[in-house]
Amino acid sequence: MEKIRIGIIFGGQSAEHEVSLMSASSIIKIIDKSKFDVLKIGITKDGRWHLYFGDVENIENGQWINQAVPAFIVPDPSRKYMITLQNGIETRYPVDVFFPVLHGPRGEDGTLQGIFELMNIPYVSCGVTSSALCMDKVYTKKILKNEGLPVADFKVYFKKDLLLEINAIVREIEESLGFPCFVKPANLGSSIGITKAHNKEELKDALFLASEYDTKIIVEKFIPAREIEVSVLGNENPIASLPGEIIPSNEFYDYTAKYFDGGKSKLLIPAPLAKEETEKVKDLAVKAFKALDCSGMARVDFLLSKVTGIFYINELNTIPGFTKISMYPKLWEASGLSYKDLIEKLIELAFEKYREKQALKLY
Ligand SMILES: Nc1ncnc2c1ncn2[C@@H]1O[C@H](COP(=O)(O)OP(=O)(O)O)[C@@H](O)[C@H]1O
Ligand SMILES: [Mg+2]
Repeated sequence: MEKIRIGIIFGGQSAEHEVSLMSASSIIKIIDKSKFDVLKIGITKDGRWHLYFGDVENIENGQWINQAVPAFIVPDPSRKYMITLQNGIETRYPVDVFFPVLHGPRGEDGTLQGIFELMNIPYVSCGVTSSALCMDKVYTKKILKNEGLPVADFKVYFKKDLLLEINAIVREIEESLGFPCFVKPANLGSSIGITKAHNKEELKDALFLASEYDTKIIVEKFIPAREIEVSVLGNENPIASLPGEIIPSNEFYDYTAKYFDGGKSKLLIPAPLAKEETEKVKDLAVKAFKALDCSGMARVDFLLSKVTGIFYINELNTIPGFTKISMYPKLWEASGLSYKDLIEKLIELAFEKYREKQALKLY
């Protein structure tokens, strides 16, 4: 059987560049080389694309760039390959399917997925609309709420209004959501620009901080909660994994707790929940996945209120952390699907979705 040529994309322009390097290395190491020819595609922090032919060991430490060749794709369906130009000579590297192992903006937010659509090539991850919606915390919550799914109360503000109306905004938040509250840039990840504001002064600072990262800001009611996550996999008939729980090492699961605490944040797999709670959260995860038109995969993150026992859907990550020890694959492992098989399943789903689309009269 002919091997499938897979373009695994790592790095990228978001703050989660390093996480992406780790996720992609893990995938490249384990993927079955008898079935797949792997093309390693690295994107630098300033957005330059390369093909990397060296050892996988040098991806994580960033050394890959020293042995990489500038490369590009074009949004042309008749050119399903990566291209390098060296000394005026064009070399083509055909690709059957892309796997963008990129987290955050310009990787997970629909922009890159748009290029794949223009190329008309299969790719792992949700489609353009779904990726963009899930990256936007405001639209995610609006859609979930509209479907009758539980989300924390929230308000939306714009950077342009902050200077003139800051006092009125602060008053409105104090009256409607109260303290503490969570202030977040609408489109980001990794807890960057997020503050738990305990009073008016902190709230003002938090709004201005968030406005450095996005022109749209979401402010949410604080939920005193346990953090529960569920992995969802599939296209039209998605299934949910067992839930997992995160015990953050800081006051909340902030940037430091996620990446720099030397592993003090704990993952509990499966989450210690009652049977009915497990069923409930799995059901909500699949509903959220469908509501946001996801395909392939998403990790659905919940806040389980310690006061009311309500599962609030906090966010969906359409390209979640994917190292061997990351929550998304770990939950599947605990649910009976190995890391290696999970990767193959995702690729299979990418082809399945592509085939379905080809059968439509789109143009
Ligand atoms: N409404 C909320 N109530 C309580 N804690 C929250 C709330 N929103 C976020 N958090 C905490 O902040 C963390 C990061 O927020 P999240 O919305 O997941 O942003 P990111 O996309 O950056 O991961 C969560 O994991 C949780 O610890
Ligand atoms: Mg999160």
